[in-house]
Amino acid sequence: MMKSRSLRIALTLSAAAILAGCSSSGATTAPVVTAPPVVASAPVVASAPVVTPAPSAAGKVFTLKDLTVGFIQTGSESGWRAANTASFKETAATEGVTLKFYDAQNKLENQVSAFHNFVQDPSVNVIVLAALDVTGYDTVLAEAKAANKLVVLEDRRIDADSSMYYTYIGSDFINEGHEGAKAMCDLLTAAKVTKKNVVEISGAVGASAGIDRAKGFRENMGACGITVTATQTGNWGVPESKAVMEAFLKKSKDIQGVFAHNDEEAIGAIQAIKEAGLVPGKDIQVVGFDATADGFKYLISGEMGADIECNPLLAPQVFDAAVKGLNGDTTVPKWVPSQEGQFFAAQGADALNAILKTRKY
Ligand code: AHR
Repeated sequence: MMKSRSLRIALTLSAAAILAGCSSSGATTAPVVTAPPVVASAPVVASAPVVTPAPSAAGKVFTLKDLTVGFIQTGSESGWRAANTASFKETAATEGVTLKFYDAQNKLENQVSAFHNFVQDPSVNVIVLAALDVTGYDTVLAEAKAANKLVVLEDRRIDADSSMYYTYIGSDFINEGHEGAKAMCDLLTAAKVTKKNVVEISGAVGASAGIDRAKGFRENMGACGITVTATQTGNWGVPESKAVMEAFLKKSKDIQGVFAHNDEEAIGAIQAIKEAGLVPGKDIQVVGFDATADGFKYLISGEMGADIECNPLLAPQVFDAAVKGLNGDTTVPKWVPSQEGQFFAAQGADALNAILKTRKY
């Protein structure tokens, strides 16, 4: 698997070098390709010094208006993702940041080739990556380092040495998993169930959000006597998650809870539970993640018992960090965790509706 995957990425890079002219994103200007040699899976340089920002005109102090950001988005797989994309487009417009937005349509090879193109693009001074996968970026990260391009990770972490990027701004997904297990424990305890069998509808395979939420949930579930009896990806979407839950229910009705990695997956599970003649929030407890407006609807109806927030409004912090990076600021930590909370059906419809009115997503 790994061998063919890095081969696919290497082929992608050579294709990218050839095809650089026709990107499928909103990127306006095609980068000038100098067809660099394809570096197949360049090893990560251990304990390399902190990335030094691109040399700038002596004494130039960068501001937000000097940013030309090559932004590599995962795709448009969820309400959360739409809010994250809007955060970048709106903040860029407000602050005068030039944003070259690339929608990778949830394909890793698309992200890698876009990254390669942004490294080649002389107008781009910052590359921002929302990583689909925890691995697969070694080659292009090494290219960016060699080209002195500032790299900022947003939303999701990757398994690369932190010397390969300036900073990561995103959620503590393990802690979100901890909060999810705690919420599930409270819901099952309140439901006075004797057994605590929980099925998991996980995020897309390879994504740090799913990997870490699953890890955090399992770290905390034991103390409550919760067992994860089945797990399968719903790929962050409603229809696929509904089908997964239908299959779980066909296999066994001995299910007391659903641990769904985002709101769309929780909504899919709720639809399947209802079609099976069961009552979500009564017969089966449902915990979701993101706390989008759609998620709030199911908290207010009581069908979802808890929604663990994941903050999508990251653009202002990312752009501020990019300016600091270009100005040679080495005080920015390698990880800036997002500010997030948790919401519960038990808060009641009035309180939840009042909160919902204050939220942007
Ligand atoms: O990385 C954050 C996750 O990505 C969100 O929880 C999910 O909705 C999105 O697809």
